[in-house]
This record gives sequence, structure tokens and C-alpha cells, in this order.
Amino acid sequence: MNGFNNNLLLDKTILVAGAGKGIGLACALMAAECGANVVAVARTQSDLDALIAQHPKNITGWAMDVSSNEFFDLMNTLPYLHGLVNNAGINRVGPMDKQTNDNIDAVIDLNIRTLYKISRAAIAPMRRAGNASIVNMSSQMGFVGSPNRTLYCMSKHAVEGVTKAMAVELAADNIRVNTVAPTFVMTPMTAPMFEDETFKTFVFDMIPLGRLGKVEDVANSCTFLLSELAAMITGTSIKVDGGWTAR
Ligand SMILES: NC(=O)c1ccc[n+]([C@@H]2O[C@H](COP(=O)([O-])OP(=O)(O)OC[C@H]3O[C@@H](n4cnc5c(N)ncnc54)[C@H](OP(=O)(O)O)[C@@H]3O)[C@@H](O)[C@H]2O)c1
Repeated sequence: MNGFNNNLLLDKTILVAGAGKGIGLACALMAAECGANVVAVARTQSDLDALIAQHPKNITGWAMDVSSNEFFDLMNTLPYLHGLVNNAGINRVGPMDKQTNDNIDAVIDLNIRTLYKISRAAIAPMRRAGNASIVNMSSQMGFVGSPNRTLYCMSKHAVEGVTKAMAVELAADNIRVNTVAPTFVMTPMTAPMFEDETFKTFVFDMIPLGRLGKVEDVANSCTFLLSELAAMITGTSIKVDGGWTAR
């Protein structure tokens, strides 16, 4: 169990995009533990089945691509939406002069364009809810650069920028918009990176707190931002980076 009251998100409907593994899975689980009705979206049905088995009463799974028409059609059927976690994201690591056009398109498509489109689709059911919160999953790479990560950094800097713009525009609708910006967290996305000992040493040397983030560290901040505890917080970021960007 987490450290929040289990009524913190009671009766809120919260959609988590990219909820089958890693950070999104932890965010979906914590929201459900705090009483929310969670719509968990990912392409792998077995991941969703395992998640739903933990909270069958208040998690619904949509097994689909969050960039598909099918997904946006379903979003349009939501009567209300109180929370959105825009967590689906990818990385294509490599030196800038070796990045293919396909890599550039894939990262921009999911990390920026789809995030914008999901947020756009969330506005109508969030207006009907009267009070809502969007959490965009950014990264410490939304604040700094790092070797072989310029493409990813571009996308996450865009996430930081669009978050501020959305916060200003949607404040009139009582929709708050913030980011959570983690350092490296061990997930299926990053596990292969840590097989490289040199890279692992580089990462640990960069984090003053001396450890990787845990998915729960990220979910804690996400849950806070989704809740009324963060009622006056919009247009900003919680860096869950162990001090990486403070150097
Ligand atoms: N891990 C880190 O160190 C780290 C650090 C900073 C920021 N982040 C950010 O945190 C987010 C999550 O990262 P993660 O490491 O947890 O990733 P992950 O382990 O790859 O998990 C991503 C989840 O999103 C789903 N997903 C991906 N593309 C999707 C799509 N098009 N439609 C529907 N679902 C999709 C995946 O399931 P399916 O493949 O089954 O669809 C999976 O459940 C990303 O935005 C990432 O940039 C991660």
C-alpha cells in the first residue's frame, strides 16, 4: 500500500495512457488504490489482464494503440474525465548524425503529437467533470541534454513547453496541467540500457542521491498532482530526478 489515503481519488475517473508496464503501470495501480476508477490503456492485453486482476472493481482495460482512431473514438464516449496521465512514450537512443527519419517520426509522433491529441480529446469530458488534472510524463531530459539523447530530449523539452501552454489555456476550464520529470527508472524501456556497465556508471555518477528512481517514486508525484492536494499547482514540473538536473 502507498502512503496516501485510500479515498484520495475516490470517484474520479482517471485515464492512464501506456499503463501496461513500468511507470504507467505503477501510476494506474496507485490511482486505483486511492479509489479512482482507472481506464488503463496499452496494446498488450496480458499486461492489462494482470493489472485488472489486482483491482477488478475499479480498473477497466482498453487494449489498443493510443494513437489509433479506435482509441480516440472510445475517448469520445467518456462522460466525465477527472484525470489523465499522458505516459505513453518511446526513446530511440543514438548519435544525432545516425538517427533515421523513421526514428525521428516515431518519437515525435508518440511523445509529442499523440500527447497533444489525447489532451485535446480529454478537454470535453474534463469540462463536464468541472475539475480535472492532466499529468504529462516528461523526463529530466526535458530540462537538459545528454549524449545520444538529443531526439528524446527534443521531445521531452516539447512536453515541458506544451504543458505550460496548456496550463495557461485550460485554467479557465479548471483543468490543471503539470509534468512529472523522472531520472532513469528501471523499466522494460531502460533495462537493456543498463546492460552496458559504462552507461550504468555514468548514470549513477550523475544522480547525487546515488540510485535509480523507482516506479513508485514517480507514481507518488503523479498521484499528488492528480489529487486535490495539488489544487493550486499548474504549469509546472515535479522533477523526480535524485538531483540530476541540480548539478
Ligand atoms: N524509464 C525511465 O527511465 C524513464 C525516465 C524518464 C521518463 N520516462 C518516461 O516515462 C514514460 C514511461 O516509460 P517506461 O520506461 O515506463 O516505458 P515502458 O517500460 O516502455 O512502458 C510503456 C508502457 O506504455 C505502453 N505503450 C507504449 N506505446 C504505446 C502506444 N502507442 N499505445 C498504447 N500503449 C503504449 C506500453 O505497452 P504496450 O507496448 O503493450 O503498448 C507499456 O505498457 C515514457 O513517456 C518515458 O519517456 C521514463
